[in-house]
Amino acid sequence: MKSFFITLEGVDGAGKTTQIELLRQIPLAQNWLFTRNPGGTSFGQKLREILLNDRTCQLHEMAELFLYMADRAQHIHEIIQPALRNGQIVICDRFIDSTLAYQGYGRGLNTELIKQLNKIATSDLKPDLTILFDINPKIGLERAKSKDKIEEEGLDFQQKIRLGFLQLVSEEPERFVIIDTEKNNIQEAHQKVIESIFKLIN
Ligand code: TMP
Repeated sequence: MKSFFITLEGVDGAGKTTQIELLRQIPLAQNWLFTRNPGGTSFGQKLREILLNDRTCQLHEMAELFLYMADRAQHIHEIIQPALRNGQIVICDRFIDSTLAYQGYGRGLNTELIKQLNKIATSDLKPDLTILFDINPKIGLERAKSKDKIEEEGLDFQQKIRLGFLQLVSEEPERFVIIDTEKNNIQEAHQKVIESIFKLIN
């Protein structure tokens, strides 16, 4: 069986989590591997806690970048590559594009540096398909229920991230499908997710 690597991206509150939960329930997805960045391994869970919830440490942006890369390197080698070698379909909640959008376009770190680090951390593994859930960040932030450290950084930061994601789409349009979760309701967006995945795997 041929393996596929699919990633899901978007600003906070774009509806990604809801869509992943719906996708998990379709019969065909019962053999797929669902995982996430950060936090797809037990090491990554500890990093996720530090990155998103630990308010006792004021992480420098470069330290934050390296923690996301550490999470990614462990995740790729422990979980994603073995599953792909096994012929599985892997659905990953956030991946390389989040670091470019959040740490690059959001925080202003050098995007070429981040691309290099992404390459090293992933052994140059790129997704076959990336679904970007797009929403006006103002609505996204209103929808996000309990706020983690990143969501607390506010609207301007999320606006930069959204533009960053759209810039990434313009650089590699063949890899991305954009789903507008403001115009499409949950079921409509779900249908579009299924269509784009089935188009890839069939
Ligand atoms: P989520 O799993 O609920 O989407 O939250 C993950 C948060 O981590 C989200 O605010 C985006 C942020 N993040 C980065 O800033 N850089 C990254 O490389 C990744 C994977 C996530």
